[in-house]
Amino acid sequence: MDSQKAEYYRCICEKISEYSRGREIVFYGNMSDFNEVLKESRNLKPAFHVTALKEKVNDETRLFDDINKKSDKYYVVVLLEPSPKLRKKLRLYGYRDFKDCMFVQRKDVVLNSKVKNYEDGYGNKVTNNCGFIIEISKYAFNSEVTIGEGTICKPGAKIHLWKGTNKVTIGDNCRLRRGLLFCTMDCEISLGSDTIIMDGYEIICSKGTRVFIGDHCMFSDYIKIRSGDGHAIFDMKSGRRINDYSPEDPKSIVNIGRHVWLGWGASVLGGSEIGDCCIIGAFGVFKGSMPGHCIAAGNPAKIIKRDINWSSSNFAYSLDQCEPYLNEID
Ligand SMILES: CC(C)(COP(=O)(O)OP(=O)(O)OC[C@H]1O[C@@H](n2cnc3c(N)ncnc32)[C@H](O)[C@@H]1OP(=O)(O)O)[C@@H](O)C(=O)NCCC(=O)NCCS
Repeated sequence: MDSQKAEYYRCICEKISEYSRGREIVFYGNMSDFNEVLKESRNLKPAFHVTALKEKVNDETRLFDDINKKSDKYYVVVLLEPSPKLRKKLRLYGYRDFKDCMFVQRKDVVLNSKVKNYEDGYGNKVTNNCGFIIEISKYAFNSEVTIGEGTICKPGAKIHLWKGTNKVTIGDNCRLRRGLLFCTMDCEISLGSDTIIMDGYEIICSKGTRVFIGDHCMFSDYIKIRSGDGHAIFDMKSGRRINDYSPEDPKSIVNIGRHVWLGWGASVLGGSEIGDCCIIGAFGVFKGSMPGHCIAAGNPAKIIKRDINWSSSNFAYSLDQCEPYLNEID
């Protein structure tokens, strides 16, 4: 069994152990590898299987009808593809989704822009959606999207939560146009308050990485932030992987300070740290660290000016018209 499948099964087993609360576990369908993970990760095993077919009944397999109205005794784990008919029948027999039965095979969920709040039995939760299309894949667990007050986004803005446990937090009073926030697996994207992002943005988190963006940032059109390479690279002499970092490694984190301006088409790559009040010039490709109050430009983007600040207003003519609390030079 591949490690991603095992991880998925382990998460499901954790939920089964949480929801079943001492009830006997009943399998509907068969998956021997799932059985193994349930035993190994939670020390649980099914009391028996159920089937809809009389001819399949034996010592370990009973008729589906035998569990009718016995949800106080049994917790049903459905290993078959869950058809609407099956779901309906389980409900009729008194088994509520998740509380009394768990579906191991699931489908991706797409929340349209009008869904403000959402919660499912796999632990995924959306709070205060302001118009994003939110895609929650069938491998997502305990993932959270939390959006602050007064934040708005344009139609077509999208958040994708893929595998494992991902977290997206957007602060208050942000304005985002059409673009994509993408969490691959066990990632975090955090956007401060009062930040503006124009069209065509892509903030893409690779497995186990995080992107932190401060308050009062201004990102132009077509910016890209990628917190990892997204594919494995090996050194041929040693055979070692050269781009796999633990989640705590600074190379797994993109840290963008407060009041940072990313110019048109700028890119920020994995492991970057950008101090408060910086600017990355149009089409700059930044990877590395830069202290506050600097401008970096070019590819690779290098510091071209220090001790600067900026104002989002083109009608500002004195330094104190920049965000005042950020005018001290480091
Ligand atoms: C980065 C930027 C702010 C720098 O402005 P500046 O401080 O006035 O810079 P200068 O014009 O003095 O240029 C300094 C040097 O950097 C180079 N440079 C400036 N911007 C550059 C860029 N985006 N890419 C590559 N090199 C750049 C200049 O060619 C110059 O090089 P030189 O010293 O070899 O001649 C500006 O060029 C820029 O890219 N603005 C972004 C505009 C934008 O995206 N607006 C969107 C609105 S949200």
